[in-house]
Amino acid sequence: MKTIIHNIKTIYTSKMMPPVKGKDMAVIDKIDDPYLVIEDGLIIKIGQGDYHQDFENDINLYDAKQKIMIPGLIDSHTHLVFGGSRESEFSQKIAGVPYLEILAAGGGILNTVNATRYASFNELYDQAKKSLDEMLLFGVTSLEVKSGYGLDLETEVKQLKVAKALNENHPIDIYMTYLGAHALPKEFKNKRDIYIDQVIEDLNVIHQEKLADYVDVFCETGVFTAEETKRILLAAKKLGFKLRVHSDEIDSIGGTKVSVDLGAKTVDHLMALTENDMTLLAQSNTIANLLPSTSFFLNKEYAPARKMIDKGMALAISSDYNPGSTPSENYQLTLQIAGNKLRMLPSEILTASTINPAFSLDIHDFVGKIEKGKHADLLLLDCPNLDYFIYHYGINHTYSVFKKGKLLVENRKVVDA
Ligand code: NIG
Ligand code: FE
Repeated sequence: MKTIIHNIKTIYTSKMMPPVKGKDMAVIDKIDDPYLVIEDGLIIKIGQGDYHQDFENDINLYDAKQKIMIPGLIDSHTHLVFGGSRESEFSQKIAGVPYLEILAAGGGILNTVNATRYASFNELYDQAKKSLDEMLLFGVTSLEVKSGYGLDLETEVKQLKVAKALNENHPIDIYMTYLGAHALPKEFKNKRDIYIDQVIEDLNVIHQEKLADYVDVFCETGVFTAEETKRILLAAKKLGFKLRVHSDEIDSIGGTKVSVDLGAKTVDHLMALTENDMTLLAQSNTIANLLPSTSFFLNKEYAPARKMIDKGMALAISSDYNPGSTPSENYQLTLQIAGNKLRMLPSEILTASTINPAFSLDIHDFVGKIEKGKHADLLLLDCPNLDYFIYHYGINHTYSVFKKGKLLVENRKVVDA
C-alpha cells in the first residue's frame, strides 16, 4: 500500500554528492509545500502542491500538519553498549581532575570496563535498548555503535552481540565497530605489545563471526601511539575491515595522518588537529567526525570547524554518546552545540548529520537524503524553519519519525506496533 505524506511545510535536504566538502556543506535543497509518495519503504515521488493526482483508493494518507521535514538523522559515532554509569566520578570531574588522569588512576574507561565485564548480556541489552529508544525519539534512524568496554575478547564479543541483537530487534539500523584498542586494560599494564598482539589476533574472530564492519583505535597520549595505531589498522585493513579512528582529541600525535594514509572512513574528535592534517583531510575522502558535546561535557576546547570548512574539509557531527565524556542521548542538543560553539550554519549542520555521516558508513546510496529511490527515513520537526531547529536549543523538536516508510514516533511518543 502506498503512503502519501501531505501538508508538509518545507523539506530541507542536502543537495551535493558526498563527501560534501567545505562551502558545499551549506548548499541544500529547500522545497516548499511538498508531498511525498512512499511505497515499499521507498520514496517514489516528491510532488509539490495538490497531491490528489497521486491519490488512489487504497492509500494511507498522513497529514504532516505544516511541520518541516528533514532526513532521519545519522549519528555515526557512539559507544551505546556499556555497563553501569560514572556519576561516581562527577565530583572529581567538577573539582577539575583531568579526564586522562582519572583514566590513569584506573577510573574512566577502565571503570566502565569493570562494569561491562560484570554485566550480563541481558543487562547490557536492556540498558542499551533504553538509550536507543531515547535516540529514536530525537530522530536518529541510523547509528554507529562501538565496542571497547571489554578489552578482552569475551566481553568485546558480548558487546557486539548486544549491538547485533538490537539491530535485529529495533527499528534503528546499527553499524558496528570493534574498538578493542580503546584503552590498555589493567592486567596488561606493563605488557603493551602483548595486548596489541592480542587485539590483532582477536580481529580474526570478530571477522569470522561478522560482528563488525569497522575497526577503531583511540590514538592519544597515554593510550595508543600513532605507530601502535598503524599496526592495528593495517592488520584490520588486511582482513577487509573499514577504519574509523579516535584522533587528535587532546594531543596531536600523528593519528590523523596514519588514518588518512590508510583510507579511514572517519577520523573523530580532532580538537587538536594541525594545519597540515587539515590539508591532508581536505584532499582525502576521509570524513572529519566532530563531537562537540564531548567538548561541552569535558569543558574542553571545540574543534576549529570554521577553519576546517574554509580548508575544504568534509565534516560530520556525532553525539559520541558514552558514559564518561558525554553521557547524553540528545543528538539534537549535539547539533545545537555545533551551531553555537562550532559556529556551523544550520545548513552545514544538516549536511553533517545526514549525507556526510551516511557516506562515512557507506549507506549514502539509500539514506541521508530525501530523494526519489531513497529509503523513507524521515523526521518531521515541530519547527517553523531549519534555523529554529538549531537555534531553539535543549528541547526535543521531533514531531514524528518514519523508518523505511513506517511511522514509529508521533507527537514525540513511540507509536504502538
Ligand atoms: O570518544 N575518547 C575515547 N573514548 C570515548 C570516551 C569513553 C569514556 O570515557 O567512557 C570518547 O570520548
Ligand atoms: Fe568516542
